[in-house]
Amino acid sequence: MTKQIEEVARLILTSKRIVIFAGAGLSTESGIPDFRSPGGVWDRYDPEDFSFQNFLSSEASREKYWQMATEMYGPMKKAQPNLAHLAIAEMEGLGKLDCVITQNIDGLHFKAGNSEDKVIQLHGTAMVVSCLTCGKRYDRDEIQERLRKGLKAPYCDDCRGPLKPATISFGQSMPEKETQEAYHRSSLSDLFVVIGSSLVVQPAASMPLVAKRNGAKLVIINRDPTSYDDMADLVIHGQAGPIMESILKEVKKGLNNP
Ligand code: APR
Repeated sequence: MTKQIEEVARLILTSKRIVIFAGAGLSTESGIPDFRSPGGVWDRYDPEDFSFQNFLSSEASREKYWQMATEMYGPMKKAQPNLAHLAIAEMEGLGKLDCVITQNIDGLHFKAGNSEDKVIQLHGTAMVVSCLTCGKRYDRDEIQERLRKGLKAPYCDDCRGPLKPATISFGQSMPEKETQEAYHRSSLSDLFVVIGSSLVVQPAASMPLVAKRNGAKLVIINRDPTSYDDMADLVIHGQAGPIMESILKEVKKGLNNP
């Protein structure tokens, strides 16, 4: 492990355009379960119930969606950034981060200190609610307060359109600007570091391929093996928090003794 950590640090020290690609595994040490691990979200809920078509299909489906979304929001709202989030934020401070392409909707990158223009939220955010008809945006807590007072499924104050967390559900179109930007940054990167993703959901999972095809070094830090491990330049299996903390320590040593 030490050799691998030193090697990732060396790659960070010698690279110019470093992209971090984050998945739910980055936030499990902050108390937010991931999706596909035992005990994960898709162990407890049926993904079908979360599909966009289902949400649009009926009042009853939207009530069920909001009930599940409310259960998931609690731990997310309370969560604090862990060592891996903090290491990524510090990389930005050291001028060693081009951007973070995140699949996560928990907003922890910002709580850790990353700036807005450095984080591309590919799957949206759970911290905001938007109207599917007029696009009006609401603070999540304000809507949760209405639900706590008995509302089952919220509608827009302006146009009565259905309100939904501003996340991208299965079957919902991807956010155009963010997706284009993510592809662009991936293609320009010279070091692409995947942290905590099973790399099975498209189009997000094609970003490491775009980076690799354009000459970037590909590093994967994940607790379990992924189907991309064979094509990666370096793979570390383990907990993202302590691994990223050790890598950052090596990077700082390298920056202090060039
Ligand atoms: N450190 C490192 N890796 C971890 C840790 C940890 N502490 N905890 C979990 N992992 C790894 C797991 O081994 C797993 O391979 O993180 C990965 C998480 O994979 P998924 O649960 O599939 O999450 P993700 O890849 O982000 O899912 C992509 O799928 O359900 C949709 O929209 C949702 O954005 C999500 C997308």
